[in-house]
Amino acid sequence: MPSQWPALVREISTCHACEELAATRQKVVVGDPAPAVPARLVFVGEAPGAQEDAAGRPFVGKAGQLLDQLLADAGMSRAEVGVLNVIKCRPPNNRRPTPAEVAQCRPYLQRQLALLQPRLIVALGLTAVAWFLGRRTTLAEARGIVHRIGDYKVIATYHPSAAIRFGPAGAPMAALRDDLAFAARELV
Ligand code: URA
Repeated sequence: MPSQWPALVREISTCHACEELAATRQKVVVGDPAPAVPARLVFVGEAPGAQEDAAGRPFVGKAGQLLDQLLADAGMSRAEVGVLNVIKCRPPNNRRPTPAEVAQCRPYLQRQLALLQPRLIVALGLTAVAWFLGRRTTLAEARGIVHRIGDYKVIATYHPSAAIRFGPAGAPMAALRDDLAFAARELV
């Protein structure tokens, strides 16, 4: 973990910039840094859900369990990757983060990425994909290529929650598997 990480964690953990989120959250979910810098791989999701809000850690609920399984299937492990979110507090009732919340939280993710210096980023779902691409897009359009965004290489894929929603035989599950295999090949 980078030496400046703990100070950034303290800063994010005490943030009250979004009044509604600060009032309704249990814990700020700062995210898991990668074990070493430069990080090999960093995942970026949307926002904490109920289980993450209770635990204070990203992707520990059903979506996280699926992510762990798919990572293992692609020959990687959660311990070797960083896991972050676009916003750090749970939106009430799991609503989508508002554009104002995304904008308010933007410097935190920017600073996290600057500290971790990932070789490759996998953006999970449209909120994260749009965060990097800076525009609305579709996953069909954004998948399958490595986007060069400033200093970063970014792969776009489905959010694991979409794969759960469409089931094991659904298109998002197959796409996630393919895209994680693509990410693993990029890292060789
Ligand atoms: N969904 C996300 O986007 N992030 C989490 O941390 C958990 C679920």
